[in-house]
Amino acid sequence: MLKELLARNVAWAKERTAADADYFRRLAGIQNPEFLWIGCADSRVPANVITGLEPGEVFVHRNVANLIHPGDLNMLSVLQFAVEVLQVRHVIVCGHYGCGGVLAATDNRRHGLIDHWLEPIRDTARANTAELDSIADPMARTNRLCELSAAAQVKRVAETPIVQDAWDRDQDLTVYGLVYSLQDGLLRDLRCARNKREPS
Ligand code: CO
Repeated sequence: MLKELLARNVAWAKERTAADADYFRRLAGIQNPEFLWIGCADSRVPANVITGLEPGEVFVHRNVANLIHPGDLNMLSVLQFAVEVLQVRHVIVCGHYGCGGVLAATDNRRHGLIDHWLEPIRDTARANTAELDSIADPMARTNRLCELSAAAQVKRVAETPIVQDAWDRDQDLTVYGLVYSLQDGLLRDLRCARNKREPS
């Protein structure tokens, strides 16, 4: 399996240099992304591929169910580097329909350690009980929770001292919420974007 993966890598690198001899030389010299992507670790939702962005164009952090835990040193380190050093202008929190993490958070079964990680999803579900209970179809209900959870994480990113300080410095920075559909490959805007001037 690893041999196959390495062979694919060689083929890819050859293809890139065949199309553009300077490709890697240019890439190695600059990392200047406009976007920070915070997405699910799900293998079907690779940030660069679904946005058509090249290496160097998006800084990426992924975890199970694209969650923001205020004490997550990994996420905070990525966020701080992206905002303060790379000076990205767009932070995208991207959920996706059919998210296994969202399903696991709400199926009333024990899954072990991951249940602690998924707690923010149950928080969001509790805060939106009336709306979620009104959706009869279980799949549609889960998908709505995927949207609500991603929107809730936008709020949590916006409330971090890192983002608040950037806005206090008048840094141009917007946090967006998107949701991705595995069915059609399209991203949808959850219309919950935040920046200092226009909280929504
Ligand atoms: Co997921």
